Amino acid sequence: MRFDDFDTRGYRTLDVRTGYGQWADTYEDTVQDTMDLALLDRLTEADWGAARRAADLGCGTGRTGAWLRAHGVGAIDGVDLTPQMLDVARKRGAHDRLFEADVTATGLAERTYDLLAASLIDEHLDDLGALYREAWRIAAGTATFVLVAFHPHFIMHTGMPTHFTAADGEDVAITTNVHLVSEHVSAALAARWRLAELRERVVDDEWVTVKPKWAGFRGHPVSVAYVWHKESRPAPSVHCGGTVS
Ligand SMILES: C[S@@+](CC[C@H](N)C(=O)[O-])C[C@H]1O[C@@H](n2cnc3c(N)ncnc32)[C@H](O)[C@@H]1O
Repeated sequence: MRFDDFDTRGYRTLDVRTGYGQWADTYEDTVQDTMDLALLDRLTEADWGAARRAADLGCGTGRTGAWLRAHGVGAIDGVDLTPQMLDVARKRGAHDRLFEADVTATGLAERTYDLLAASLIDEHLDDLGALYREAWRIAAGTATFVLVAFHPHFIMHTGMPTHFTAADGEDVAITTNVHLVSEHVSAALAARWRLAELRERVVDDEWVTVKPKWAGFRGHPVSVAYVWHKESRPAPSVHCGGTVS
């Protein structure tokens, strides 16, 4: 779905590489752990400690990689499109290897990783299918894929894109797409992932403490986490619709 149909901000919009290139230095001052890391904390169907080799897709500055490392994941490779975000990740040192590449065509070796993570990146992709297929290609036989996303309901309800405040004070958006939960399920099933866990995080007291101006959004889902397990059976026919009117 087009974000433009929901936009209430009208910010100037940059492409991913330009936008994150400008945001990289202040990114970590803005993003709240309660959006994504708090969801990772709650998942039960990902065995972090058992993962010997992980791919962190859209690794950014290394927040997700550092969380994975702290939870016992062995070697971690990171992939990101934005050199400035990778520079910060390199200094942080949570990853074993870092690659500048698109998550839909990583160039990583096939059937390699027993854990894949993609956090706060899906809204920047036009085609979720390309992400799920590439993740499946590089996943080892019994891999787990954990995807955390900005909740489509929150993007639609608030009309707010992913954005940052530039050095001159201007609020600037980065290309944002709206992917319904059913789009994720359709794309992942078609790529032969099996859903093992789905959790949503709503705006609660913890959120309002870190972002008091979100008190009016209390109870609204703000982020979502999917845990997928790799299927080896042939690709199914998928009957999971988008919207019904
Ligand atoms: C919101 S940040 C998330 C970073 C990190 N996972 C975290 O949770 O802090 C999104 C990152 O995804 C990257 N990104 C967006 N689209 C991408 C693509 N198609 N391929 C690779 N990286 C992409 C951006 O460069 C940015 O670093």
